[in-house]
Amino acid sequence: MMLMINLVLWILSSSALRTTNADEMIKLPPCNYSAIYNFGDSNSDTGGIFAAFYPPAPPSGETYFGRPAGRASDGRLIIDFIADHLGIAYLSPYLDSIGSNFQRGANFATGGATIQRPNGSWFENGRSPFPLEIQVEHFTQFKDRTSYFQNQGDECSRKRLPQPGNFSKALFTIDIGQNDIALGQNIPIANILNLFILQVRGLYYRGARAFWIHNTGPIGCLPLTVVKVQNPAPGYLDENGCVKSQNDMALEFNKKLKDEIAKLRKELSDAAVVYVDMYSAKYELISHAKNLGFEDPFEICCGYHGIGYDVWCGNKGNVNGTEVFAGSCANPSKVISWDSVHYSEAANHWVANRILNGSLSDPPIDVKRACNKQ
Ligand SMILES: *[C@@H]1O[C@H](CO)[C@@H](O)[C@H](O)[C@H]1NC(C)=O
Ligand SMILES: *[C@@H]1O[C@H](CO)[C@@H](O)[C@H](O)[C@H]1NC(C)=O
Ligand SMILES: *[C@@H]1O[C@H](CO)[C@@H](O)[C@H](O)[C@H]1NC(C)=O
Ligand SMILES: *[C@@H]1O[C@H](CO)[C@@H](O)[C@H](O)[C@H]1NC(C)=O
Ligand SMILES: *[C@@H]1O[C@H](CO)[C@@H](O)[C@H](O)[C@H]1NC(C)=O
Repeated sequence: MMLMINLVLWILSSSALRTTNADEMIKLPPCNYSAIYNFGDSNSDTGGIFAAFYPPAPPSGETYFGRPAGRASDGRLIIDFIADHLGIAYLSPYLDSIGSNFQRGANFATGGATIQRPNGSWFENGRSPFPLEIQVEHFTQFKDRTSYFQNQGDECSRKRLPQPGNFSKALFTIDIGQNDIALGQNIPIANILNLFILQVRGLYYRGARAFWIHNTGPIGCLPLTVVKVQNPAPGYLDENGCVKSQNDMALEFNKKLKDEIAKLRKELSDAAVVYVDMYSAKYELISHAKNLGFEDPFEICCGYHGIGYDVWCGNKGNVNGTEVFAGSCANPSKVISWDSVHYSEAANHWVANRILNGSLSDPPIDVKRACNKQ
């Protein structure tokens, strides 16, 4: 009986707590960010790696942009939906010198990027030569050179670059780590996280005061991961059909990241540092795909992947002795996975809506108000 009362009290008090939080949240002023500076991998690259190396190919971009727009998707990424929500134009990649406008931010993310330094063979194994520390270095150059040109009163810079005083009022978003754990090279997660936090601190010393940091998604649920598993042993897959060992690594990374961010929040006492649980949002989507209007969550819209073959989206190749072109599926809005590794625009839209209001964040704060110190 006592136990039950305690339980009831606990439920009551925790729901009371939630209401208070939600009410307090609404009272916090919106941040009116001057800009967004983003760091990460292909989950949030809006064209950097493509600008640096090779042009993107159709059918990427078909759903929203009507052309390949440098994103590994048929349309917008989560970072694009965040920009929309904040009333800021889609971010130009720092590496793109053509037609870019950096007045309201820049994107330093590059597809294939890791937290660790890539090895010499980065190109063969799909790693980006612009890991997190280089992205932070690019931001440093961006900031220093922006200030130089603005102080010179350069006419062209005035229209395309921020003012020196705008940097401390920007939102700094980070989504990286998936590539470090996906290939699982026996590097202790704690070491990877030390490098991660070092760079976040580096941004703080360069003037960043509002951080919105995504944890890493359920990589064990990526169709590419699942399709490569032959005759899984009992318990190898979880109840939703995802590879358990891969998800466990992501969960361990996320748990430690959350702890490190909590420590950092105390250390950088004049900064607002928000941890966002993307894993839960993505896993919820995958485990409830059918109820949410999607088809089989392991279906791939663009590309052919199986044991012994990979024909990536937009490429020609050979599958079981037949020449194929990997084009788009009939209805991308019903498919969660665009190309076996990256999400479709429809899936990105759902996940973005799930995280924007802060209900999966620590502290639970809407991205519009995330500059407020909790
Ligand atoms: C943002 O603008 C609104 C409306 O002008 C204002 O009420 C609010 O205080 C501003 N927020 C900050 C953090 O300055
Ligand atoms: C950037 O700073 C300038 C000069 O202080 C200010 O007028 C402008 O409103 C700021 N821009 C944004 C987008 O906050
Ligand atoms: C580079 O190679 C070393 C040694 O094989 C490995 O431990 C490390 O994880 C690799 N780094 C990356 C980013 O692949
Ligand atoms: C290729 O062959 C394998 C083995 O027979 C089969 O499982 C797979 O579905 C085939 N792939 C395609 C795209 O037909
Ligand atoms: C946040 O948005 C999600 C998805 O739209 C919704 O389920 C949830 O109730 C919202 N939470 C709050 C605190 O508004």
